[in-house]
Amino acid sequence: MKALTPVTLSSSSCLWFLFVLSLCPLCFCNQNPDHVPCIATERLVLIQLKNNLIDHANRLSSWVGKDCCSWSGVVCNNITGNVQEIHLRGPDDDIHGHCHGSYDTEDELEEASKQMLGGTISPSMTKLLQLTYIDLSCNDFGLIPIPAFFGSFQNVRYLNLSRSQFSGEIPHQLGNLSKLCVLDLHDVPLYTNLHSKSLKWLKDLKELQHLDMGNIDLARASDWFQVISTLPSLLELHCSLCGLVQLPSNPTTVRFTSLIALDLSYNLFSDSLLPRWIFGLHNLILLDLTNCFISGLNPGTHGGFHSMPSLMTLRVSTNNFVNSSLLLNGLPSLSNLRLLDVSNCNISAPILGTLHNLSLIVHIDLSYNGMVEEFEDCFGNQETSESKNMGLGPVSYLFICLYYVY
Ligand SMILES: *[C@@H]1O[C@H](CO)[C@@H](O)[C@H](O)[C@H]1NC(C)=O
Ligand SMILES: *[C@@H]1O[C@H](CO)[C@@H](O)[C@H](O)[C@H]1NC(C)=O
Ligand SMILES: *[C@@H]1O[C@H](CO)[C@@H](O)[C@H](O)[C@H]1NC(C)=O
Ligand SMILES: *[C@@H]1O[C@H](CO)[C@@H](O)[C@H](O)[C@H]1NC(C)=O
Ligand SMILES: *[C@@H]1O[C@H](CO)[C@@H](O)[C@H](O)[C@H]1NC(C)=O
Ligand SMILES: *[C@@H]1O[C@H](CO)[C@@H](O)[C@H](O)[C@H]1NC(C)=O
Repeated sequence: MKALTPVTLSSSSCLWFLFVLSLCPLCFCNQNPDHVPCIATERLVLIQLKNNLIDHANRLSSWVGKDCCSWSGVVCNNITGNVQEIHLRGPDDDIHGHCHGSYDTEDELEEASKQMLGGTISPSMTKLLQLTYIDLSCNDFGLIPIPAFFGSFQNVRYLNLSRSQFSGEIPHQLGNLSKLCVLDLHDVPLYTNLHSKSLKWLKDLKELQHLDMGNIDLARASDWFQVISTLPSLLELHCSLCGLVQLPSNPTTVRFTSLIALDLSYNLFSDSLLPRWIFGLHNLILLDLTNCFISGLNPGTHGGFHSMPSLMTLRVSTNNFVNSSLLLNGLPSLSNLRLLDVSNCNISAPILGTLHNLSLIVHIDLSYNGMVEEFEDCFGNQETSESKNMGLGPVSYLFICLYYVY
């Protein structure tokens, strides 16, 4: 009997060896980052997510079988197999700008709507503890509120819920997402249902670099500047058409001095002066103050635009503050400028002479001002004798309209 034991052992280890050998193709697969095994409990969560979504176009048709890490829109950690990223952006094509934009035909509109996911978002999603990236933008959730449970994705760095037809108060729980780098809640115009009475919930998002609240109603959030200006990592702030009414002229703290993009267009800062702190944002690449009802310059503002040498896009159309001397002084320093829109700014002095240094410019709009320089109405698309005479150099696309208001 004693002799049998080693035989038994060796035969069982042989079986074990054969068994291991038979698994080997799997082992090799497991080393391939595309085929990490899916975690069974997380697979069930995804199934639940799918079951709660309305998916007319069958975009989730690959969400079957065991290998949830290979499902479309799902990215797993290549070592642990945990679901890490959910990419479920709806149709967002370049031709029509953004989703929920205008489509040429009814058919195109219908096709786009079909591609949008709807329904509800299963709260079981919060069991995906390792999620770092969630993109549900460009879908149509039929004006349900943003679920408060989104505040429990503690590892999420990228959250994009833009243009997905959410409505109601933005849940303050989002302020719990302390690792967030990108928060895009941009709403669909015409359906401006998303709102926030106070932005205090944002204050702990110390890593936030990119914040887009476009079209969200912030008219009652009088603390907007106080909170946002102290976010230490912020690089991009997009708050177009937010119903903002106050643009503080002498805030005590402005900590977002590294900003590279500031878009406050289409807010009714009635009777505001352009505050001095804006010219302290020396790294700005994009400044959009279109239609902000800014009526003049703060008396202490001497600098002008030459303190922003990195600017590539400057849109200040339909404001009164852009007086001629401010532009004349600043423009020649903006050697990186690609786009300049100073239309409808009540500029009367000639400014074309100051455009010589703007060798990279591709779009200039000077329309609806009171300039007295003589030009053809509009010229575009190619270098013309006029643009040559202006010393603008080769430009790929030049669009200048000069209308006479007086
Ligand atoms: C795993 O993924 C990370 C990024 O998520 C990548 O940097 C790394 O190279 C991947 N490892 C393997 C073995 O593919
Ligand atoms: C969020 O999604 C929208 C729509 O799909 C896209 O246009 C936008 O660039 C995304 N935002 C960020 C910050 O990536
Ligand atoms: C906020 O985060 C904590 C852990 O940091 C978590 O325990 C709590 O449930 C979260 N609250 C909400 C409302 O998501
Ligand atoms: C125009 O701006 C300059 C500063 O660049 C300022 O000194 C001047 O007073 C302004 N003029 C008017 C009419 O606002
Ligand atoms: C404009 O460009 C010329 C040379 O092309 C340069 O000498 C001058 O300093 C520039 N002006 C400013 C204000 O940058
Ligand atoms: C345009 O600017 C002139 C000063 O240059 C000012 O007198 C006039 O009121 C301004 N027009 C409007 C509509 O603000």
